[in-house]
Amino acid sequence: MENKRFFSLPFVQDILHNKDFQSLQRYIHHGTTTCYHHTLEVAWLSYRLAVALKLDRVAATRGALLHDFFMYDWRTGGPRLHGFRHPRIALNNASKHFVLGSKEKDSILRHMWPLTPVPPRYPESWIVMTADKIVSTMDYIRFIKSKAALMYNTMHTYMWLPLQSRFNRPKLYS
Ligand SMILES: [Fe+2]
Ligand SMILES: [Fe+2]
Repeated sequence: MENKRFFSLPFVQDILHNKDFQSLQRYIHHGTTTCYHHTLEVAWLSYRLAVALKLDRVAATRGALLHDFFMYDWRTGGPRLHGFRHPRIALNNASKHFVLGSKEKDSILRHMWPLTPVPPRYPESWIVMTADKIVSTMDYIRFIKSKAALMYNTMHTYMWLPLQSRFNRPKLYS
């Protein structure tokens, strides 16, 4: 999350300073991306889309910030069938801390569509659902690229360089 403008938006301050929301920094979400970082990127993209489409930017941004508001690492813990169940868990957690409008609730609850069968109801929820898909894809592309770079460096160091030095030994005789 590079854009500092996002952190100064007045309607995100209560969420950003919430202790449980801050704790999302502890949980890896996709690849090496934390839930916190993923959520901020989805929220920033949702905000930009809502502004561009002249929709409710507050609802889209707040819904996006809270769409994955679950405090566990889904790869090692949490409930079974996380993909289907976490929207409801996120909504329950969000409702304990914040007053949510119907657009925010719908954005959280429907963001996994079409994995969960009921589609988003409001344009703002469609924005959050779409932004989540885009950012999640980018999270995995970043992860795959970093793995590929690591594999390349390992092969270069442990296979290519030894091979090169073996066949390019300076001749010690004439
Ligand atoms: Fe999610
Ligand atoms: Fe997400």
